Amino acid sequence: MRSFLGRDILSLKDFERNEFMHIFEVARELESIPRSRRNSTMLADKTLVTAFYQPSTRTRLAHEAAMHRLGGHVTGFADAKMTRAGDFYQESIKDTVKMLEFYGDVIVMRHFQQGAPHEAAKWASIPIINGGDGWGEHPTQILTDLYTVLREKGRIDGLKWLAVGDMRMRTMHSLAYGLTQFDCPITFVAPPDMSLTPEFKAELKEYSLDFKEAEHVEQVIHDVDVILVEPVVQPDYTKSRDERSGNVGLTPANYKITRQLLETKAKPDAILLHSLPRMDEVPVDVDITRWSRYWQEAFNGVVMRMAIIALILGAME
Ligand code: CP
Repeated sequence: MRSFLGRDILSLKDFERNEFMHIFEVARELESIPRSRRNSTMLADKTLVTAFYQPSTRTRLAHEAAMHRLGGHVTGFADAKMTRAGDFYQESIKDTVKMLEFYGDVIVMRHFQQGAPHEAAKWASIPIINGGDGWGEHPTQILTDLYTVLREKGRIDGLKWLAVGDMRMRTMHSLAYGLTQFDCPITFVAPPDMSLTPEFKAELKEYSLDFKEAEHVEQVIHDVDVILVEPVVQPDYTKSRDERSGNVGLTPANYKITRQLLETKAKPDAILLHSLPRMDEVPVDVDITRWSRYWQEAFNGVVMRMAIIALILGAME
């Protein structure tokens, strides 16, 4: 297995099965720290730099919380408009990370341009974690989701998945790459204008992913163990910021997981994941049903970021 020490986490493509399992083992070892709301001293001499060029609640703060739980330090920016990358100078990724690498030991970057963290990794002498790049990937979110499935169901192999939402989304790309390493058939349900591209489908076939597509969640929900939902009413992920203006519309029933649908059609022991934020695709009355696991997923978001940071900075092997 390749070492995680000093490694960039940019994509789940070509991430090996034993690497997933190793991260999950490390996450399990660290889980008791945030569970008991303690901070350790494992990374007391290290600093995490956050470079967020697009809004975030969970990804940035979960990485920051993870670093605090590991006893490390945090610096960075949550709004690139307040940096030289976001003003008159439009400072390049290269010039920016050539500065940031002196301010800390690992950088987590979110960017509206697909491939921006990869560009940063080309120039930085410290590891880069991709916190979501345009429509590209969101590897730490899907590592969190797979870990949540493992913790909630006791296994990953042999479970059937349903993924609902916009298949252009970075989470969907990382999910599909991630599941290539497991025995997990998956059905994708998306609006026609948000479906998997022919190029991506060809790539997934090359990686032997067992997948199919359906038009309506009602057609498949009875047969799945894991339901992962993302919005279909959402902003443009290629923009640095997309404000809401006017009526944005409602989610059609095809892409919505309601309490009634779960109660009448879902397996009683299926679990429902949503990386959040949500619109109306998972109504709030689903929160207190036995299917919902998104709050556990949120907790695991901190655990998983602890595991990733601890591994790449050498606090865990
Ligand atoms: N799940 C997720 O990426 O959320 P944020 O956009 O709030 O980081």
